[in-house]
Formats: sequence, structure tokens, C-alpha cells
Amino acid sequence: MSNSCWIAPSILSADFARLGEEVDAVVEAGADLIHFDVMDNHYVPNLTVGPVVCEALHRHGVKVPIDVHLMVRPVDRIVPDFAAAGAGYISFHPEASDHVDRTIHLIREHGCKPGLVFNPATPLNWLDYTLDKLDLVLLMSVNPGFGGQQFIDGVLPKITEVRRRVSASGRAVRVEVDGGIKVDNIAAAAKAGADTFVAGSAIFGSRNYAATIAAMRAALARV
Ligand code: DX5
Ligand code: ZN
Repeated sequence: MSNSCWIAPSILSADFARLGEEVDAVVEAGADLIHFDVMDNHYVPNLTVGPVVCEALHRHGVKVPIDVHLMVRPVDRIVPDFAAAGAGYISFHPEASDHVDRTIHLIREHGCKPGLVFNPATPLNWLDYTLDKLDLVLLMSVNPGFGGQQFIDGVLPKITEVRRRVSASGRAVRVEVDGGIKVDNIAAAAKAGADTFVAGSAIFGSRNYAATIAAMRAALARV
């Protein structure tokens, strides 16, 4: 693997009544990114938080990049708002955008790093004309909408295929996996080719965030 591994706790499983403290705690515990799940009860059957909350965290002083995962339709209307709210990466689902190339450019023009997200059943041909413009490919290992779901093993060969395409491109594109990642399966995702690992319930549902992140890093070190 060419890149170092990054761990991205998903705030979806944090205590929203104490969000600033929770984010400080996972950053202190060794998080590399803060994964920020945006759901609209339209593209996915759940509703979470928007740019106002992203901006609040940004102003609070989050010391790592905010990795915004848009599960919304339409996409373009909200991109500039997240850029202004301090997003580092902005990823979206190609099915949710009418003009995928336009959305990628919009994210870049607003100073953020674009990512494309693949649901478990979404084919990788969306990468054919986009990979050279992306900084991140996010592979869903659950169907989007909820934390705490079971990892879908069938996504492992898909991760490997994305890694193959990224290596062939010669570009530094992160390969991120999202859904059901735990201490006991993070190595399998890494072996398949992922270098960036979203974990919501596994981290925020644990008693000791630092110990959980350290156990994940130890599992990754053995790959
Ligand atoms: C699901 C979200 C995930 C979710 C992962 O739609 O995109 O980021 O928070 O949660 P866990 O790690 O609990 O599966
Ligand atoms: Zn996510």
C-alpha cells in the first residue's frame, strides 16, 4: 500500500448532545479525519445534520480535515455551503447527481477535495471518466442510511478492483471503506486495498476511543 492508513470516526454514532467534546475526544484518541454523514430522508431513509453543524465544529476548532459524506439529492445546491462550513473532503453518490462531472468540478472549485461514493450494488463504471479528477473513492460496505449495520463481505473484491484502478492511474487517491468496520475486520479491508477506514459504532460505541483506535492500528500494522 502506497499511502499510510487513516482512521475516520463517523460522528453518526457520537453523542450529539456533546458533539464538540466527542470530536475533540476522537481527535485526541488519534483520528485522522472526522467523517460527517449528511442524510436527507430522501436519497436515504434517515435525516442527520447539515452545514450549520459542520461550521460549528469547524469554528470549535477540529484539528483534522472534515470528511463530508453527502447522502442527499440534489447534490450541487448544498456543496458551496459545506465548502464555506470548513469541509476538507466532499463525497457524493453518483446516482444522486444529474451531472457527475459538474459536481466534481464544483467541489474542486470551492476548494475541497472531491470523492465519489459507491453503494454495494453501484457498478464501478462511474470511475471510467472521473477517476483522474477525484481525490477519494468511498466504497460503502453497508447500504447507506444507518450506523451499526453488518459489513457486507462482497465489497472486498470491489475494493481490490478500485485499488487496481487507482494504482494504474498513478494518482494519490484515497480508497475509503464505510460501514461495519470493526477491530476484527479492518485488516481484511486493508488487505483488499483500502487505506482509509470509517468507523462509527465501533469507536463511539466503545468505552475507550484511544484503545479502540490503537487496536485498529495494530490490526492494520499486521497486514
Ligand atoms: C452509513 C454511514 C456510515 C456510518 C457507519 O450510511 O455512511 O458512515 O456512520 O457506521 P458504522 O461504522 O457503525 O457502520
Ligand atoms: Zn458515511
